Amino acid sequence: MMKRKPLIAGNWKMNTSLEKARELATEIKGMVLDEVNGNVEIILIPPFTHLSTVNGLLSGSNIKTGAQNCSQFYDGAYTGEISAAMLQSLKVGSVLVGHSERRQYFGETNQILAEKVKRALEAGLTLIFCCGEMLSDRESEKHFEVVKTQLDEGLFHIAEANLGKIVIAYEPVWAIGTGRTASASQAQEMHAFIRRLVIDHYSERAGKEMRILYGGSVKSGNAKELFSCEDIDGGLIGGAALESRGFTDIVKAAL
Ligand code: PGA
Repeated sequence: MMKRKPLIAGNWKMNTSLEKARELATEIKGMVLDEVNGNVEIILIPPFTHLSTVNGLLSGSNIKTGAQNCSQFYDGAYTGEISAAMLQSLKVGSVLVGHSERRQYFGETNQILAEKVKRALEAGLTLIFCCGEMLSDRESEKHFEVVKTQLDEGLFHIAEANLGKIVIAYEPVWAIGTGRTASASQAQEMHAFIRRLVIDHYSERAGKEMRILYGGSVKSGNAKELFSCEDIDGGLIGGAALESRGFTDIVKAAL
């Protein structure tokens, strides 16, 4: 079987001035070039306003850019929205869909996310589809059911031929920005479950090829243990992506 290439994505969320974004991208580019050498895929996900600048700074490196969100609509009178096609026209390669902060604070339902997935694919973008349960779901032992529903309703309408454009990120909401990481065994258990869902819905091969990232308080100190789990193919990094040394240490942990 083909080995899945690890992916580390740094989600800057609503952080960084343009100047800080420049600094961070330049530092990361300088630090990872030699050591990683194409063995780990790296995506930096700055705010929309910094995408063009960061993209320009990263040219000539293996590091790519992604966006944090896109609209479920094509174009038109949707003030404040950014379409998938606009991202594509900026040469941004990927987009996050369904981050828990979008679900929680901006009312994005599985049905809206299903539309976003379609728009992103139509624009030729790769997408990182996020899923994950709230603490109350885990406490009431509904975490598997919640994640299954998120994938069934938000993602699994796409054709198998498009799965090469998809990465799944499992991010338990109780672990995001809290300093409380899922243990490696909790994460591995859910990743194996997600892989099984992909196999059951599509095929054995689709499941084996699907990259599944873990996100939620990943730091240089816990990255190695998480990434060494069989079904964890890298990470979606929030807080620790805002500091170049910590982020590149996480990248190295995926080697
Ligand atoms: P965190 O965020 O690493 O700060 O927990 C992860 C994410 O939200 O993608």
